[in-house]
Amino acid sequence: MNRIFSGIQPTGNLHLGNYLGAVRNWVSLQHDYECIYCVVDLHAITQWQEPEELRKSTREVTAALIAAGIDPKKNIVFNQSQNPDHAQLAWIFNCVARLGWLNRMTQFKEKAGKHRENASVGLYAYPNLMAADILAYKGTHVPVGEDQKQHLELCRDIAQKFNSDYGVEFFPITEPLIFGTATRVMSLRDGKNKMSKSDPSEYSRINFTDGPDEIAKKIRKAKTDPDALPSEAKGLEGRPEAENLVGIYAALSDKSIEQVLAEVGGKQFSEFKQMLSELCVEVLGPIGNEMKRLVAEPQHIDAILRDGADRAREMTHPILEEVMDIVGFVHPLKG
Ligand code: TYM
Repeated sequence: MNRIFSGIQPTGNLHLGNYLGAVRNWVSLQHDYECIYCVVDLHAITQWQEPEELRKSTREVTAALIAAGIDPKKNIVFNQSQNPDHAQLAWIFNCVARLGWLNRMTQFKEKAGKHRENASVGLYAYPNLMAADILAYKGTHVPVGEDQKQHLELCRDIAQKFNSDYGVEFFPITEPLIFGTATRVMSLRDGKNKMSKSDPSEYSRINFTDGPDEIAKKIRKAKTDPDALPSEAKGLEGRPEAENLVGIYAALSDKSIEQVLAEVGGKQFSEFKQMLSELCVEVLGPIGNEMKRLVAEPQHIDAILRDGADRAREMTHPILEEVMDIVGFVHPLKG
């Protein structure tokens, strides 16, 4: 049986990269699979978060997922800290994963920067908790953007090493699901950098909550080159900003890059940007409005998270009990 798990950090606003690389795919997968979507607050605190902001962001991100079309009754939507089984399995994985594996993680290197010695131990062990998130449910498929690929390879290594260390076929070897035309949306200010919540420039990203004027302004100011748009994909080579904007347009309109270029080839960026703004407003506008409506009812959001967490725990509890058995812990069900 396929079981889908994915997670998203409640650190600030969700942006177009989160939507096109992940959330949109989560929405489409819910029709065919059992899906578990987690707001990963334990991961968020690997870098210091102002407590009230963290609480607010957790509710906002939950609202965004629901506004984007995820049905919290059909799926499980909850915040990670409400299911302690994640942290318990993560400890076991801290003892399975090797330092050498974690030393290779590019996200740690990027986030820790030059001050590696000052980074939290949690930031270093971050991928182990991520593996625990997935494997606590025996998740088989994980829909993510391109930037999470290395973490998912580590999850496979952990599952394999656990299985071989204990001589069991217990954890599945999870497959990443990276699909769509925008698996890596780039910054609007620099086509060589990923669109990210941590970029200091607000003009680098489009947020779920941006209104039509903000969206139009950000796209108008987006970096481009002076040439007109090409009519074939090979004309995008060496033009990262053009490639990014065309990729965003293709993803938002559910078309291929070739189809989009057949339509807009020869146009100047001023005209194309106008088309892109309108499309962005058309897709994100209703999501942003619904999100604002949901955020105004925090009790409703909290009830969804509570209910999701209860159902999540029902799934992980028997799996964790088996893990404790395999590892050799004495626990109530074992004499
Ligand atoms: P996070 O919160 O950084 O991002 C959430 C999802 O959005 C995708 N994404 C992007 N996709 C395309 N272009 C971009 N510019 C872009 N920016 C972000 C990410 O790939 C991700 O799918 N470590 C994870 C959260 C996590 C998780 C998990 C994911 C924790 N446990 C278990 C899967 C399974 C993260 O920080 O995502």
